[in-house]
Amino acid sequence: MYRKTMAVMLTAGLILSPVSFSANAASSTSNNPSDHAFDNKVIKKIKVDNMYDNIALLSKQPRVAGTEGEYEAVQYIKNQFEEYGYDTELQPFTMYDWDPGVSTLSIEGGDFTGDTRSFYASANESVTSQLEFVGLASPEEVSEDVKGKIALIERGQYTFYEKIENVLEKGAIGVVMYNAEGQSGNNFGSVYLGQDIPAIALTREDGLELVERLQNKEITATLSVENANFVAKTSYNVIAKKEPHPNKDNGQIVTVGAHHDSVPNGPGANDDASGVAATLELARILAKTPTDTELRFVTFGAEERGLLGSYHYADTLSDEEIENSVAHFQLDMVGSKDAGDLIMFTPDGEKNLVTDIGASAGARISEVVDYGQLGRSDHVPFFEKGIPSALFIHAPFEPWYHSPEDTLDKISKEKLQNVAEIVGASVYQIARPDTPALENSNVAPSPADYDFDYRPL
Ligand code: BES
Ligand code: ZN
Repeated sequence: MYRKTMAVMLTAGLILSPVSFSANAASSTSNNPSDHAFDNKVIKKIKVDNMYDNIALLSKQPRVAGTEGEYEAVQYIKNQFEEYGYDTELQPFTMYDWDPGVSTLSIEGGDFTGDTRSFYASANESVTSQLEFVGLASPEEVSEDVKGKIALIERGQYTFYEKIENVLEKGAIGVVMYNAEGQSGNNFGSVYLGQDIPAIALTREDGLELVERLQNKEITATLSVENANFVAKTSYNVIAKKEPHPNKDNGQIVTVGAHHDSVPNGPGANDDASGVAATLELARILAKTPTDTELRFVTFGAEERGLLGSYHYADTLSDEEIENSVAHFQLDMVGSKDAGDLIMFTPDGEKNLVTDIGASAGARISEVVDYGQLGRSDHVPFFEKGIPSALFIHAPFEPWYHSPEDTLDKISKEKLQNVAEIVGASVYQIARPDTPALENSNVAPSPADYDFDYRPL
């Protein structure tokens, strides 16, 4: 209870404060040498080469959730935490991969030879009927003519959900969708819960060929999806905990997190081996540092699949743990040479304890860190549980995002060092034993004046 109040008070104090401590002019918010002494206690220990070497190791192969690549990373991370002296746990959870099975589209005359792929969550069904072209499948384009027929749809503009809803409403019994202009292949598409319909994806070329044929005469087609299935896989969170000094325990918990999984087609050096490496380094330097606060370092699995690991972790927290959690720092894409400046994103675009402390630490160490509004990472489940949290990331982000080019050579040691210093100093401000520093002005660093930034991504 008191902790949440504290966060609100601090934020409110910043809004009301007429004093600008740093903003643009000065680079430091604090003339108090003791603030820097506290910061130095942690930041002097940071070894940027440790972070760089860990990114090198983790980005040797993709770390797709539920694969061997992820499991190898998970074991490495666990071993590192244990070497530093943490109680470390692998937290498994089940996720479902989509096996598209076998899909076919045959048309009367038997001369359609295009490649087909079932949509994610397509129904396993075989239907035979006329093909009806419905353009982009907007409500205006879809008429009663599609009733009992297979809708031929161009991808784009509307969501898969909306397009399928629109044709289902008018009684379509199957979906054939072709790719949008400029998009290659036919690996796309998703049917949603309750939209029980067979649906397949075609390349743009194959789709346009059918559209053209339909201009001359009707086409009767058989669309069939077989053996498409959800396959259960296991992904993991890695959780390292350090209890506070027994005589000083104030009951608070601070979490630092990153996601260790990557997308399939890239090594994920920046997304998010960088965040994992920074999390490991902060764990290393804080392992032997006495604190009055419980520290948790967590790397999440299956972030790229929809924040699955962090939702799972947040769901396993007891009410008491949620109440005691005062801050979550999420590190995602924190080392790219080709990205912009550091920013702190919150899902609601509001300041909170984490952004207040992060902005202030930034101002003491390099420059004040602004904040903005964004979800898209593992701070979201913490935010949804009411835990003050923020995503630390550089924006605008780099062109290599989610590509095979997200490699070690794009990593900047300066950026890694700077983020580790700012987040390390922030965590230490909350966790150091002479706190509650936040409500004691003799020991709390000065707040920073920091702004909302509509930064392009
Ligand atoms: N690190 C990214 C999120 C990100 C990318 C934030 C670029 C800001 C700029 C993260 O790993 C990611 O890709 N998230 C997914 C969302 C998730 C819910 C599947 C995304 O943004 O597509
Ligand atoms: Zn990421």
